Amino acid sequence: MNRRKFLAIAGSAGVIVAAGTGGFLATRTPEGALKPWKNAGSLYSGAMSQALSYAILAPNPHNRQPWLIDLKSGTEAVLTCDPGRLLPVTDPFSRQIAIGLGCFLELFSLAAAAQGYRAHMRYFPEGEPGDVLEQRPIAHLSLEKQDGLAGDPLFAHVLKRRTNRQPYEADRAIPDDLAGRLRRGAADNVQVGTTTGGKLLRDLRALTRDAMLTEVRTVAAYQESIDLMRIGRAEIEANPDGIALGGGFLESLKLAGILSRESLADPASRTYQIGLTMFEAGAMSAMGFIWIKTGGNSRTAQIEAGRAYLRITLQATAAGLAMQPMSQALQEYAAMAPYYRAIHDKLAGKSGERVQMLARLGYAEAVGPAPRWPLETRLKEA
Ligand SMILES: Cc1cc2nc3c(=O)[nH]c(=O)nc-3n(C[C@H](O)[C@H](O)[C@H](O)COP(=O)(O)O)c2cc1C
Repeated sequence: MNRRKFLAIAGSAGVIVAAGTGGFLATRTPEGALKPWKNAGSLYSGAMSQALSYAILAPNPHNRQPWLIDLKSGTEAVLTCDPGRLLPVTDPFSRQIAIGLGCFLELFSLAAAAQGYRAHMRYFPEGEPGDVLEQRPIAHLSLEKQDGLAGDPLFAHVLKRRTNRQPYEADRAIPDDLAGRLRRGAADNVQVGTTTGGKLLRDLRALTRDAMLTEVRTVAAYQESIDLMRIGRAEIEANPDGIALGGGFLESLKLAGILSRESLADPASRTYQIGLTMFEAGAMSAMGFIWIKTGGNSRTAQIEAGRAYLRITLQATAAGLAMQPMSQALQEYAAMAPYYRAIHDKLAGKSGERVQMLARLGYAEAVGPAPRWPLETRLKEA
């Protein structure tokens, strides 16, 4: 959250600043929860472990980290989905979870190439799951050493990539050539569109805002997010996933009794109202949008959309652009149906074409990394 804006709205600066002074602010970083960013590559030996230690840094919905890896050997593994890490209310068919697994696979492939290994992947080796993403494997992975294999330059940006939920700078337009570079950065099996101005940008700002506010007002949907909020260092360290509300400032709000899961869920609370204002500010400050479409909605198409999203977000990182998925209008639950139709009317051409990802773009203050479970905890017990 943007501190200045929060204070302006909350009007409780005195209390909050008092709670957040002294050594307290300096000690709120959840060092353990962020270790996977430091340990990627360096802590592990062997091509497979090294590549996996980067893959767990992939973007994924609500930071559920749904990957579960069955290590078969130093060069072979099977990726499965952890059924305890789904989002049943807002992602009833686990479409977004599958996209997150696609992000994981692309990052795995980039990290393997950086070590001189080609990553071979067979998606859904026991068949594509239907509406339920069950425990049949998502992908069979193997690594083959290849002399002279050129690494992908995008790999250099993996540790700097973030989802940035700040308001974006209102007076800094996105150059056309940069939008073009992002569009061309993905593979041919998905279609990528962008807008950086005009009516479509204005329409998408309003649409993503309205969909977000509708989600907040849909009790079960918002509660799913609130249940995954980790407020303050101790909660983040205990569960390094979900939506981390960390840092000295937010933790001082927690101590002052202003920020809690209950207040976030209570429409009469100031915290709830501030949440609405911040979500609106985020959507309305978009200086551009990028979207990824697929010809149909097979599980393979979802994986490919995730792979494309990972590449695009690394391109954006390389260019100094901030990016945040705005997924609400794409979600498949009843309250979202009007937004889902509106977004497809606007962005999907042919019948059957599906918008798999929609993200806002702009320039913003840098943010820190999101927590991760260590690789060891994401390995399937033998
Ligand atoms: C399919 C998908 C949907 C997502 N939807 C949203 C979203 O609607 N809003 C949002 O703020 N972040 C969204 N994210 C980003 C995740 O919340 C983010 O990747 C995760 O919290 C980890 O943070 P990181 O990307 O900074 O590592 C989405 C990511 C994926 C892959």
